[in-house]
Amino acid sequence: MVRQVFTGSMIHPDETGEIVFKESVTILVEDGKIIDVTENPDQEKIDDFHADEVNNLSPGQFIVPGFIDGHIHAVQFPNLGLGYDKTLFDWLEAYTFPLEKQYTDQQFAEKVFDIVVRRGLQTGTTTASYFSCLYTEACVILAEKCSQFGQRAFVGKPNIDVPRDNGYYESTEKSIETTKAFIKAVEEIGNPLVRPIITPRQALKCTIELMQELAKIAKEKDLHIQSHVNETKDEVERVKEEFGDTCTAVYDSTGLLTNKTILAHGIYLEDSELNTLAKRGTGIIHCPTSNINLKSGLCDVRRLKANNINVGLGTDVSAGSSYSILDEMRSVLHVSNSLFLTGHDNVPFDYKDAFFMATLGGAKALTIEDKVGNFMAGKEFDALVIDLNAENNLLDNFTDYTLEENLQRFIYSGDDRNIVSVYVKGRKVK
Ligand code: GUN
Ligand code: ZN
Repeated sequence: MVRQVFTGSMIHPDETGEIVFKESVTILVEDGKIIDVTENPDQEKIDDFHADEVNNLSPGQFIVPGFIDGHIHAVQFPNLGLGYDKTLFDWLEAYTFPLEKQYTDQQFAEKVFDIVVRRGLQTGTTTASYFSCLYTEACVILAEKCSQFGQRAFVGKPNIDVPRDNGYYESTEKSIETTKAFIKAVEEIGNPLVRPIITPRQALKCTIELMQELAKIAKEKDLHIQSHVNETKDEVERVKEEFGDTCTAVYDSTGLLTNKTILAHGIYLEDSELNTLAKRGTGIIHCPTSNINLKSGLCDVRRLKANNINVGLGTDVSAGSSYSILDEMRSVLHVSNSLFLTGHDNVPFDYKDAFFMATLGGAKALTIEDKVGNFMAGKEFDALVIDLNAENNLLDNFTDYTLEENLQRFIYSGDDRNIVSVYVKGRKVK
């Protein structure tokens, strides 16, 4: 049994979603689980815990929940920063699918995924929901890297069975068979932090038969599901032409919408689609950097929330140009301000809203809020130690700032140099 104590300032969303600032708390962690969180505890209580490890935060440091990246394409890392002169469909054909085809090369996969997982942890992503590629071996390498470096992860092998010109697809049968093999291989890694996730790429890339089969597998194995929904106007129109209905209706008719399903984007959802998503408990992953880079649109997240949909954040690398959720929080605010400036929203989001989406909001969208998202006793200890006096960091401390001001300064003007330690289920991973 390993017992850890953390004492210092703490910021987190409480169960109601309100961001709570505490100047001095002690968090007791046993085998990665939070046992107790006490404000100004007496020394006797701490001594009685008989900790193996005591961490006293220094002035300027505070602890926050780990960040959750609810949508990231691990395989697209080599394309970071490329192709933003295009829009979605052209970008996919010119940049994305040709790159993804290269992952039959397992050495290449090993090299890329080693970097993906380590960099994610460095920037504070303690939970990631990954899209990999069509090739099972490469997907398993990604899951192994997550397990090795200690990241909490959902790893998905995307399914595409609609024929495409460059051959990047599988037959329906093969797609089902390789998905089952992939699930088995991830289960054999035996790390409860690393789970397979069912990943139909998008309605236009899958047949109805495939989507139905995938929904069945998810149900049988009680797995999460992830996909894309209504990212561009073109996509919405093509889905209507192909299926005669909305994308949400197509997913729902095949059984893909559950309370363990997360869908990226959701910019152009009709009211009826919002209703369906809310009824099924399906979450939306907001990816504002990607949506700006590819000129896909401005997602009205307030409308989603007003319709009782849980919203988390995704970097959507490499349509997103940064793998940092901190950067994504800024994009949330920029997109929200843009909606305000163009008369679409009366009340723009603030830094606390973005912080919620990056932590408990993401956990709720993924229905893992019983495990992570804040520091309630009983949850697992996924945490970042933020230091605004960190060496070589970009922030100067000219005066005494409040804890509220320090969170604000970190979100708007900090970077990964301010994230000095990262923990996943109590394990120090940075
Ligand atoms: N829709 C289908 N595939 C993709 C992808 O790889 N990236 C984004 N942004 N949208 C998609
Ligand atoms: Zn995506």
